[in-house]
Amino acid sequence: MNNSEYLLLTSLFIAGTDTDVGKTYITAGLAVTLRKMGVDVGIMKPFAAGIAQKKGYKSEDVEILSAAAQVNDPENMINPQFFPIPASPYTAWKRLKTKPKISTILSSFKKLTKIHDLMLVEGMGGIMTPILKDYYITNLIKEMDIPTVIVTRSKIGTVNHTIMTVKMCEKYKIPIKGIIINDFDAGYPVKELTRDLKNLTGIPILGSIPFIKDMSDSSLYKIFKKSIDFKLILN
Ligand SMILES: Nc1ncnc2c1ncn2[C@@H]1O[C@H](COP(=O)(O)OP(=O)(O)OP(=O)(O)O)[C@@H](O)[C@H]1O
Ligand SMILES: [Mg+2]
Repeated sequence: MNNSEYLLLTSLFIAGTDTDVGKTYITAGLAVTLRKMGVDVGIMKPFAAGIAQKKGYKSEDVEILSAAAQVNDPENMINPQFFPIPASPYTAWKRLKTKPKISTILSSFKKLTKIHDLMLVEGMGGIMTPILKDYYITNLIKEMDIPTVIVTRSKIGTVNHTIMTVKMCEKYKIPIKGIIINDFDAGYPVKELTRDLKNLTGIPILGSIPFIKDMSDSSLYKIFKKSIDFKLILN
């Protein structure tokens, strides 16, 4: 990294209010933009699930994230565990008899933080997605000891989901850097939603992202640089 402005960088856990809210798209946009700002950004998807891709990385999320960050770290470090069914790590464990390995996740994360200036870690599903009995995404974030960014959507119902997510982070004493509104499906007018989420949660709104038509580097950079307050993210 060549910019002394960002010496106090800390890794971020990109959490979501639910599955499919856009964690991967938002993490990819953040990774591209930070990279173009001169930050050596690493990415991680501790647990991934779904149908394995035939070529490249098993997880499509990992494929998108590593292309965005342009990293060549081994797949077993970026994504230590892949479950070939669309389920939470807890349910996958019960069905496939493969226990989620928290210690492997934490040691890979530690190694990657030594290689990169800043890690973006994408969550799985929502904040209370179960990993083990009485061990949720919140517990994992707590053990990684990093702040979170909450990705929320603009569809009706999002206020409820966002407040619940913020409350759970507060219960687990997880610092929240801010909320990103992924405004890719119809619902609330984004200005109104920004005002209401800010007032109701007291958490800064880092920006809102419109529907992305083009996932190329230059398109993501243009959208994210304009829409997200990187000063709030990096300080
Ligand atoms: N800003 C956006 N513009 C256009 N399409 C989007 C945007 N955000 C999300 N999508 C669409 O929604 C889908 C789900 O988004 P994404 O994969 O980022 O969700 P996720 O929260 O990472 O889900 P998971 O819990 O499975 O990891 C994407 O495949 C894409 O089709
Ligand atoms: Mg994802």
